[in-house]
Amino acid sequence: MKINESARKFFANRRSVSVKGLKGPGPGLEDTAKIIQSALRVPDHGKLEPWRAILISEKSKYKFIDIIDRRGREIAIDSGKLEKNKRNVLNTPLIIAVICSPKESPKIPEIEQILSAGALCLNILNNFLVCGWGANWLTGWMAHDRKFGEEAFDLVETEFVAGFIYVGDYGENPTDRPRPKAEDKITWF
Ligand SMILES: Cc1cc2nc3c(=O)[nH]c(=O)nc-3n(C[C@H](O)[C@H](O)[C@H](O)COP(=O)(O)O)c2cc1C
Repeated sequence: MKINESARKFFANRRSVSVKGLKGPGPGLEDTAKIIQSALRVPDHGKLEPWRAILISEKSKYKFIDIIDRRGREIAIDSGKLEKNKRNVLNTPLIIAVICSPKESPKIPEIEQILSAGALCLNILNNFLVCGWGANWLTGWMAHDRKFGEEAFDLVETEFVAGFIYVGDYGENPTDRPRPKAEDKITWF
């Protein structure tokens, strides 16, 4: 068995950083492109590439916050929650919107394409974490509101937001939360 000890340790201890703990500066363009290039190595039955990603940077986030504000008011999102949504975006240097973009296929069921988009979310998250960034996978109304997605990301009918990966620098190491025990989750066939 060829064990990669540092990779094993990463997976044994990996954890997200709360969005409240994220701050600038974020990764530069070149680092971001490299990390996403690695993250795209994701299981994808039939090589359909049923996903795309949109990067919301320091420069473009004000436009994003405007849409959050306008649409949030329109659908009566609680004002405290809306402020929190906007503050999180304002304080986070990089946000990646992962869009699930299922393709017509006689062979690959849509559910498998959705699972591949989820795998991409986790792979983006883990690739940023392993490179020393703080990151967190969030959804909420901004992921589930159809009109928001159409306006912000030009979603077509078959597409939806699989998640937002918030990325940034962080201060203290996050404390871990309780984790499930393998013996409670597995049975042998
Ligand atoms: C699909 C998905 C959506 C999530 N959306 C939210 C969210 O909107 N708000 C939140 O606080 N946590 C959300 N979470 C949980 C966060 O990712 C949370 O920080 C996570 O439990 C951290 O786990 P980890 O430390 O193992 O990476 C979501 C998780 C998943 C898988």
